[in-house]
Amino acid sequence: MRDLRILTGFLSLGLVLAGCTRTPASNAASKPARGVSALVEVSGGKQAAAAGGMLLQPVIVQVNDDQGSAVPGALVSIRGPRGTIFDPPTGPTDSSGQFTTNVSLGEMAGRYQLTASALNAVGKAIELKVEEIALGYEEILGRELSEKYCARCHDQESTPERLSNYDNLAVKPHAFNEGDTLNPISDADLMAIIDHGGPALNRSPLMPPYGYTLSKAEIHALISYIRMISDPPYRAPGTFYAQP
Ligand code: HEC
Repeated sequence: MRDLRILTGFLSLGLVLAGCTRTPASNAASKPARGVSALVEVSGGKQAAAAGGMLLQPVIVQVNDDQGSAVPGALVSIRGPRGTIFDPPTGPTDSSGQFTTNVSLGEMAGRYQLTASALNAVGKAIELKVEEIALGYEEILGRELSEKYCARCHDQESTPERLSNYDNLAVKPHAFNEGDTLNPISDADLMAIIDHGGPALNRSPLMPPYGYTLSKAEIHALISYIRMISDPPYRAPGTFYAQP
């Protein structure tokens, strides 16, 4: 941890030397942040990245006063489970009351709960939890397979690489993170519907069978991925929660 701080110190020194215009944290730290009442998430939660990798989007949190107005210049700190790196780990909110940090998750696959905090007028820490997901090798494979074979029906959004077919389907499939629908389905039933198609679970034949295309290991990888990104979380024995 100390090594990280030294490293971050060096990095920020480097940025300052390089003429970066980022405001040093000390400016705001000295001002009493009056009116700090709540921290809200602006964006960057619920992302999934490879374990040890950086999240694509930064995490942005906003400090509000008791009227719900943004508080500029409030000092925000953020911490997470072992191995999580923040750039920067602490700093003042900008003119729109927001603090932005880039996040790299630790090497362990699992869910990472990050805690952002700021002190209110009487020195009490106001906290906000943000959850992120670190994908292990198997889940990364599952994500690739999902993009290749499943997303065109299961994801309503089109991307430059693939057009969503969702709107054309008479029976609507669910996004793989829809835990309320997918969590109650057992691993064995997930295996059956992916292997043999919708009719295996008395569902629509619009869900095709993948048993000829994918190996058992690949279907397992898909199931691991589906379980890992589920929202609300899939809580099964053996689900790994990264410890603070
Ligand atoms: C051609 C469109 C299409 C593709 C491609 C497709 N599915 Fe489906 N899938 C469906 C439809 C439609 C349903 C809903 C069936 C029902 O509820 O009767 C479904 C249902 C499911 C379900 C049950 C949960 C739910 O969403 O209702 C799972 C699990 C599932 N699919 C997994 C997969 C996986 C894994 C892949 C890729 C390997 C895949 N599907 C590819 C159309 C598709």
